Amino acid sequence: MDVNVALRARISTRAFLPQPVSKELLTAVLDDARWSPSGGNLQPWKVVAVTGDARQGVIDAVNAAAATDPSSQEGDHPMYPAELWEPLRTRRYQVGEQMYAQLGIPNDDKVARFSRIMENFNFFGAPVGLFFVTDDRMGAGQWAHLGMFMQSLALAAVEHGLATCMQEAWAMRRATLKRHFELDEHDYVYCGMSLGFADPDHPVNQLRSERVPVDEFTIWHGWS
Ligand SMILES: Cc1cc2nc3c(=O)[nH]c(=O)nc-3n(C[C@H](O)[C@H](O)[C@H](O)COP(=O)(O)O)c2cc1C
Repeated sequence: MDVNVALRARISTRAFLPQPVSKELLTAVLDDARWSPSGGNLQPWKVVAVTGDARQGVIDAVNAAAATDPSSQEGDHPMYPAELWEPLRTRRYQVGEQMYAQLGIPNDDKVARFSRIMENFNFFGAPVGLFFVTDDRMGAGQWAHLGMFMQSLALAAVEHGLATCMQEAWAMRRATLKRHFELDEHDYVYCGMSLGFADPDHPVNQLRSERVPVDEFTIWHGWS
């Protein structure tokens, strides 16, 4: 598959078939993703992969932690700045509304919206959960490199017939995850990811998010 095709084919998939993913297939995806670049070739990432009972184990651990205060956030890197500014605020709002519209969930149905958010913590039904871990001594640069690795992995997944959803929602439970997986002292969970075979018929997977055109984010110099 051409890279430009894979870039457009990758979407955040939020409903999966129960079909399992073999270790061989996941290894092939990880084997592609490891060719991602990183400054100084630090490769500042670790991946925790779960399926089967291990997948259920982490779901249970996180849901138990969330039961006391579902909106609390563990760790010192919130998902977004406290007050998002325009046009970012509107972009975030729009994609959320588009998703709920696909699902037929109205604005005032807070219960349905909340339960949809909580689907994050079930990997949207995906048979595989991934967690991306860096070192808490790393700076913004290495976090960016970890992001590149995640995108490489998501594109490689497309090539192998798989679908993904990156999930920073899991970052709300960083401390719980670190404890649960008995990670090393400096290990820091940045993000989760659902991975599996997309449910092609589920309405939520019909969502195609928008992008701003090139000239809106490029500052051109030197072309007439
Ligand atoms: C780092 C990162 C974290 C994300 N976290 C979540 C998440 O927790 N839950 C979710 O449903 N989508 C999550 N997303 C998906 C974004 O909402 C999605 O990428 C964006 O709306 C663009 O849509 P697309 O991925 O379908 O192109 C995340 C995306 C990224 C890159």
